[in-house]
Amino acid sequence: MEMIKRPRRLRYSKTLREAVRETRLSAGSLIYPVFVKEGVNIKTGIDSMPGQYHWSPDRLPELYDSLLEKGLDKVLLFGIPAAKDAAGSGAYREDGIVQQALRLSKKRYGELYCVTDLCMCEYTSHGHCGILDPSGADVDNDKTLASLAAIAVSQAEAGADMIAPSDMMDGRVGKIRVSLDAAGFERVPIMAYSAKYASAFYGPFRSAADSAPARGDRKSYQMDFHNKKEARKEVLADIEEGADIVMVKPALSYLDVIQTVSQLVDVPVAAYSVSGEYAMIKAAAARGLIEETAIVYETAVSIFRAGANILITYFAPELSRPQ
Ligand code: PBG
Repeated sequence: MEMIKRPRRLRYSKTLREAVRETRLSAGSLIYPVFVKEGVNIKTGIDSMPGQYHWSPDRLPELYDSLLEKGLDKVLLFGIPAAKDAAGSGAYREDGIVQQALRLSKKRYGELYCVTDLCMCEYTSHGHCGILDPSGADVDNDKTLASLAAIAVSQAEAGADMIAPSDMMDGRVGKIRVSLDAAGFERVPIMAYSAKYASAFYGPFRSAADSAPARGDRKSYQMDFHNKKEARKEVLADIEEGADIVMVKPALSYLDVIQTVSQLVDVPVAAYSVSGEYAMIKAAAARGLIEETAIVYETAVSIFRAGANILITYFAPELSRPQ
């Protein structure tokens, strides 16, 4: 008799299917990005990202209460300042928008883990992620490092639990680590946006954060999406410089990179499912073309299946519901 292989044996019962799952989602591995805007009494919907809001610091408790109720205790803070300048100085002002939000968050919500995005593009008048060189056409890498270090220390002083540099300058992780240590913040970890690709998937975020470059693009610092070996080089360099967690960004079109990186390194791997991924699902769901909850869950699981340990996603509140 021909022996039939019967993989279906493990699929007939829902109970057994759940028992043999290889990948599990939990609220503890999710980080929710939050846009904090300078001002008072602001909770304004973001057009490019339906369901997401700009929050002024005084309104954050409303958001935090609803997150904590869902078991979500980690946020990634982005600041939208009232004023910008060429040096992006609002990013390291003691009363800068992220610093204000951090002080309030840590005072009233001690249990909330606050990660800060460390970049200059929301704060520079030209929209680039650093200080421009004299030609005005590109970012001066080494000059930018000093500003990034100042921002990191300023965020840590305001109470940041973890610093996440997203600028993609060479050598920034080492510089930030040394500066944090020198200021007494040796316990504050760095989650480096290590393999961050120059991606059109950031479009909705740039409208939300008013951070699109006025001229040119970010291709001289963010990675070329044709490359994967380069992601290995970037994550290894960041780990050598002191990154505690490395990140791959975006996520869905980069599952191969997440897998490669997670097999390569011994540190936790985070993946950022970015604004364009969010907006695509929202737009298709709004037209009734896909089933939102099922798609949100399936895509999130695929990112963990590829090897991510942490997922940064605007869908965190939806994902925290039992599936
Ligand atoms: C800052 C930054 C960006 C994102 C995270 N940090 C924008 C960019 O690099 O242009 C994108 C996040 C998203 O699209 O959800 N540099």
